Amino acid sequence: MTVHIGANPGDIAETVLMPGDPLRAEWAAQTFLDDPVCVNRVRGMLGFTGTWKGNRVTIHGSGMGMPSLSIYANELIRDYGTKSLIRIGSCGAMQDAVNIRDVIIAMTASTLSTPSSGIFRELNFAPCANYDLLQSAVDAAKGMGAQYHVGGIYSSDVFYDERPDLTREMTRHGALGVEMEAAELYILAARYGVRALAVLTVSDHLLRDEALPSDERERSFGDMVEIALQAAFPDAS
Ligand code: HPA
Repeated sequence: MTVHIGANPGDIAETVLMPGDPLRAEWAAQTFLDDPVCVNRVRGMLGFTGTWKGNRVTIHGSGMGMPSLSIYANELIRDYGTKSLIRIGSCGAMQDAVNIRDVIIAMTASTLSTPSSGIFRELNFAPCANYDLLQSAVDAAKGMGAQYHVGGIYSSDVFYDERPDLTREMTRHGALGVEMEAAELYILAARYGVRALAVLTVSDHLLRDEALPSDERERSFGDMVEIALQAAFPDAS
């Protein structure tokens, strides 16, 4: 047990999928995993371990925002020995060519600050995804016929943004979408020598007044879980 995770040592797999929403962790575990067992419910942050095509995997909520994700990712990596972490979540599109329901595979995550920023002082560290996971996710998305984009994203500290100028600059510099967790995940993975990737579904559009209807969110989310699982276990059959 750690401060925020009630699981026993060995309860958590080396591969962890991390949706922001704990109820989505429950839904994904019940939908995709064989024999899912709840391994954490501290503060309602649900985590489940089961198998996918014979491979052991945990699906554990991260909460919203980098401070929350940082707590869970730190404990998963340092105390439970997690080696691969794949964020699965939603994002807002920042480019015209990106549409609602599209999948974004995040190669890099730019950010104004993360819980790790203090370490770097004036240095601008470039958080980037693990290449093998990224390549496997691209292969999976291609194989499924998904509409997908690979590139940089923007990890913001705020959902209700009072700095539209920053959003405009990120759009001008090619960021595909905005979310609130990936940059810290990539930094922690770099620090501890483990693998990380973020696979995101576009739920709303910052340049157009569009959003994914609530009844469609579950199905779009499912495609992303499938891509993440195939990325983690590319040789599974
Ligand atoms: N901003 C930040 N995070 C998000 C958004 C957004 O517009 N949409 C989904 N996650």
